[in-house]
Amino acid sequence: MFSSTNRTVVVVGAQWGDEGKGKLVDVLAERADWVVRYQGGANAGHTVDLGDSSFVLHQIPSGILHEGVRCAIGNGVVLDPDTLFTEIDELVADGIDVEGRLYVSDRAHLVLPYHKLVDGESSHSQSLGTTGRGIGPAYEDKVARRGVRVLDLRNPARLRELVTKGAEQANMQLTRFNSGKRADVEQTLELLGRLAERLLPLAEDVGLMVYRAMKSGAAILLEGAQGSLLDVDHGTYPFVTSSSTTSGGAAIGTGIPPTALDAVLGVVKAYTTRVGTGPLPTEMDAPMGERIRTLGNEFGATTGRARRCGWFDAVVVRYATRINGLTDIAVTKLDVLDTLDRVAICTGYEYGGDLHTEFPGDITSLDQVVPRYEWMEGWQRSTADARKLDELPSQARAYLDRLRELIDTPITYVSVGTRRDQIIGL
Ligand code: GDP
Ligand code: IMO
Ligand code: MG
Repeated sequence: MFSSTNRTVVVVGAQWGDEGKGKLVDVLAERADWVVRYQGGANAGHTVDLGDSSFVLHQIPSGILHEGVRCAIGNGVVLDPDTLFTEIDELVADGIDVEGRLYVSDRAHLVLPYHKLVDGESSHSQSLGTTGRGIGPAYEDKVARRGVRVLDLRNPARLRELVTKGAEQANMQLTRFNSGKRADVEQTLELLGRLAERLLPLAEDVGLMVYRAMKSGAAILLEGAQGSLLDVDHGTYPFVTSSSTTSGGAAIGTGIPPTALDAVLGVVKAYTTRVGTGPLPTEMDAPMGERIRTLGNEFGATTGRARRCGWFDAVVVRYATRINGLTDIAVTKLDVLDTLDRVAICTGYEYGGDLHTEFPGDITSLDQVVPRYEWMEGWQRSTADARKLDELPSQARAYLDRLRELIDTPITYVSVGTRRDQIIGL
């Protein structure tokens, strides 16, 4: 992805999350100087499998496993300091040195215990199937202009004022939910006082640092979380997360100009999954869904919930290509389909007597659409050891060719297993 002209590259999920972004970021970080997370928070779970050890990163960029790569958490992220420090401690215990190469934007908003309380106690969050990590409430406070930013930890009087407002708001909501739980201003301030000692030394003007790195020619990877169909504007609203997961969010959430983005890699599974509620037009029938869930180990990296499984939806990925300006595609988990005798691709939605090939804004129609499928022959051979395209069975190549044709974007990577080395670069 990096070349003399491609210096700033975005990695986004082009379905409903868990596409394998962590794996791709880890692979690409080999050649990156910087990796920056630009939105979301600890709702993300990005898995990196090094072979002899495996990591799930929620808050820290997946580039951290490469020695010498600088990692930053951008202003667009809602930062959960608890998760951050737990993750740092675990990495250090596993021999990964993060000292001096992990930065946090001083403008990033904090996820506080009362955000998690509200997310956990809200029946609305439950009906959406959120991760319960306080993401929605933290972004609500940000947009309502009462959020606590990292830089507020430097100013105790302002911090007290913001936490008082935030706790008041949380308590109003908790009362409305008939919850017996309450936010406590003093406890929150005491916690923040302790966390500040560790957090403030990491706080930087990340936008400025990345901009300077960019000007000096550095290779910069911007790591998206969640997926395009979970984007608060472009996803299956209201069954979405609370941030801009698409490539437009990468500039805003890092603090660099949109004109700086040179390429956008969209990560897609060779099929589709979704965790949580909301439409999934190509959802498989129960036995097939169960089979793919088992083969693909489709259980959430953050919450452990079973992921719903569906066939590859070309309507979705074409839409994601358009709204992200995808220049490249990485197809992951091709190996999960290895034992199937046939595989389906959805090429359109039949609805109201018409065939729709553009993803609708009004999701009520999605409950009634009938996916139009194209069936292709399975390959029934292991792809796990393929390292070149021509080592793949011809049926698997035909499947990839058809995907490329339908989404009209070059496939640059094909992943055939969890490990770092199980990838075909095209
Ligand atoms: P992310 O949130 O997009 O980073 O994805 P997750 O880490 O939540 O979920 C992807 C899962 O698929 C992880 O368990 C990965 O180890 C696994 N994975 C990634 N690529 C492949 C692949 O090509 N084949 C198989 N079998 N598993 C993969
Ligand atoms: P990564 O980065 C898959 C989903 C939740 C829920 C909705 C809103 O690992 O791909 P939230 O807690 O964000 O308010 O929940 O979004 N969701 C994800 N699904 N992968 C993720 O992250 C997700 N992060 C949030 O399941 O449906
Ligand atoms: Mg994930």
